[in-house]
Amino acid sequence: MDISTELEKAINEQIGIEFAASYAYLSMAAYFERNAFDGFSKWMHLQSEEEHTHAMKFYQYLIDRGGVARIPSIPAPEWDFDSVIKVFEASLDQEREVTRHIYDLYKIAQNESDFATVSFLKWFVDEQVEEEKNVSDMIDKLKMAQGNPDSLLLLDRYALERKAESEV
Ligand SMILES: [Fe+2]
Ligand SMILES: [Fe+2]
Repeated sequence: MDISTELEKAINEQIGIEFAASYAYLSMAAYFERNAFDGFSKWMHLQSEEEHTHAMKFYQYLIDRGGVARIPSIPAPEWDFDSVIKVFEASLDQEREVTRHIYDLYKIAQNESDFATVSFLKWFVDEQVEEEKNVSDMIDKLKMAQGNPDSLLLLDRYALERKAESEV
């Protein structure tokens, strides 16, 4: 059964959203590189790669279901930030926005009784819980470190130890 026109459109949009997230994280990585935070920069590079993987999952699924991939344009991301914590707060906002979009997709799939898409989307629902948690935890730690450069550098070291999802 081919995918519906409405889901095809929504998944194409989601491909754009995931690539936009990937772009935004790359831009955040560059900000950290400029400011000599090697760990935070690595963290954001890994995030950027993950989002690319997400986009490709949607892309492949769309094609597997007989849909036409019409990749949308991506807006230029924010490139400058006021502080380390502001970057992670922007990241959390972004993840929450992505979660909302995934839920919207889920609702469409449910309304259409497209159970294959519902099943496919479950992985993303779980993934978003993980993503939001990772960022929230980092924000909590950054709040504790506020005004203390030693602690901030320690957190940068901690971020450096993050592994790519494929290595975990
Ligand atoms: Fe994603
Ligand atoms: Fe994400």
